[in-house]
Amino acid sequence: MKKPTIIILSVLIPFLLIQFITVDRVNPPVYKSITLKAPPEVMSILKNSCYDCHSNETEWPFYSSIAPFSWLVYRDVKFGREDLNFSDWNKMTDKRRNHKKEEIIEEISRETMPMPIYLITHPLASLSNEEKLLLKNWFKGRSTKK
Ligand code: HEC
Repeated sequence: MKKPTIIILSVLIPFLLIQFITVDRVNPPVYKSITLKAPPEVMSILKNSCYDCHSNETEWPFYSSIAPFSWLVYRDVKFGREDLNFSDWNKMTDKRRNHKKEEIIEEISRETMPMPIYLITHPLASLSNEEKLLLKNWFKGRSTKK
């Protein structure tokens, strides 16, 4: 075999083989009674910037079916949902929900969420200053569940 052929095959064959390591892209059911309820302007920002990893309403991008990208997307959604899931918002105790609100405000202030890697493929999910302020004020302002 010629050298370029060997190089191409040595990339292509592992790439094809890793496609057999699939991930389970599931969206668990959404129950209206326990999902977060917020004014439309808050919901639209959260849906646009957070819901892919922090809800059961993930829009799985096309590359989430191609390894190794699928593994990365799967991991972010899995750990994202474990830490904070707006679809289970009212299932949490008041104490836990208040703690989550503080974390949300902190993550937004520190600009660590949405995850920077996510913004590469979802540039429109980036939060403007007004959006940050709106989210922070809303999560600060409410202590009762709704
Ligand atoms: C690409 C997926 C992704 C997106 C989009 C995303 N997050 Fe996250 N988020 C994660 C992951 C993964 C974790 C858990 C690991 C970590 O802390 O990095 C997390 C953790 C968190 C936590 C818990 C932090 C802690 O201290 O435990 C908060 C709060 C949070 N995210 C808020 C948000 C908010 C608010 C948005 C939207 C503005 C958002 N995230 C968008 C993936 C994401």
